[in-house]
Amino acid sequence: MSIPGDLARAGVAPGTTTLSGVISRRGPFAPGDQAQLTDPKGRRHLAVLQPGKLFHTHRGSIALDDLIGSPEGSVVRSSAGTPYVALRPLLADFTLSMTRGAAVVYPKDAAQILAMADIGPGACVLEAGAGSGALSCWLLRAVGESGTVVSYERRADFADIARANVERFFGGPRPAWQLRVAELGGDDPIDGEPFDRVVLDMLAPWDCVGTVARALLAGGVLACYVATATQLSTTVEAIRAHGGFDEPAAWESLVRDWHADGLAVRPQHRMVGHTGFVVTARRLAEGVTAPPRQRRPAKAAR
Ligand SMILES: C[S@@+](CC[C@H](N)C(=O)[O-])C[C@H]1O[C@@H](n2cnc3c(N)ncnc32)[C@H](O)[C@@H]1O
Repeated sequence: MSIPGDLARAGVAPGTTTLSGVISRRGPFAPGDQAQLTDPKGRRHLAVLQPGKLFHTHRGSIALDDLIGSPEGSVVRSSAGTPYVALRPLLADFTLSMTRGAAVVYPKDAAQILAMADIGPGACVLEAGAGSGALSCWLLRAVGESGTVVSYERRADFADIARANVERFFGGPRPAWQLRVAELGGDDPIDGEPFDRVVLDMLAPWDCVGTVARALLAGGVLACYVATATQLSTTVEAIRAHGGFDEPAAWESLVRDWHADGLAVRPQHRMVGHTGFVVTARRLAEGVTAPPRQRRPAKAAR
């Protein structure tokens, strides 16, 4: 992305970082920008605008010079005459098309995590693992420049991918972000660094509950994103067994797209049936133990 040029056009001094990356993506397309090209069937391509270059599709090539200097939302035609709508990718588009190491958190789940873990400007957030950096982008954008995101990733190769994705989205390093190539719950102690929120997207979040409890401020929120029902159960039980959290909540979100065309208004035939579950719990004050639950477990569980 041509951040310096975009910032200058927006009247922002060189070296200034932007809250969300939005300022850096305003104005006409410039060399180095990303353009998402959508054909009449809704198929999307991501092109980096390089002067003098052609972008090849199966419906002919597009001269990228036709886009440079054009406003966002322009329509360009390929050499075969197919029209393409050109827009800068949104974060939701970017996270779905970015280079992946580990599986990414889908935008619908990232939105749930931000909302239900109450992550906003100024928050200090601990994340593990960073994986491909998709959730890191959402967290960084939510906390803004006054907040902090500390992300742990135990695999150096995934950490490299996460860093590249975050820097590609924001147009450079984020001062609010510390990426640590280390295992959360391992040798690298995080004691003494107080966090408002902790977000875990990893195979075994239950192994980190003690570490998280030491890192979270009283009243802070732990959010765990897990793929399977057994992980959900083990996570909930580990949080309960720790005793330093309130009663965990667990849920999933299902998004069903709709087809709306004239009188044909109905749910789409296909949907993404499962992505993951979210478990949240709030840290109790130091030394306080969760009161015993009033509700009896089901008979079968006794
Ligand atoms: C599913 S991926 C995370 C994807 C990421 N949330 C995203 O949206 O791109 C899970 C990652 O957690 C990392 N991981 C697992 N346990 C970890 C731990 N204890 N500390 C740090 N990283 C861990 C794995 O290496 C893997 O990259």
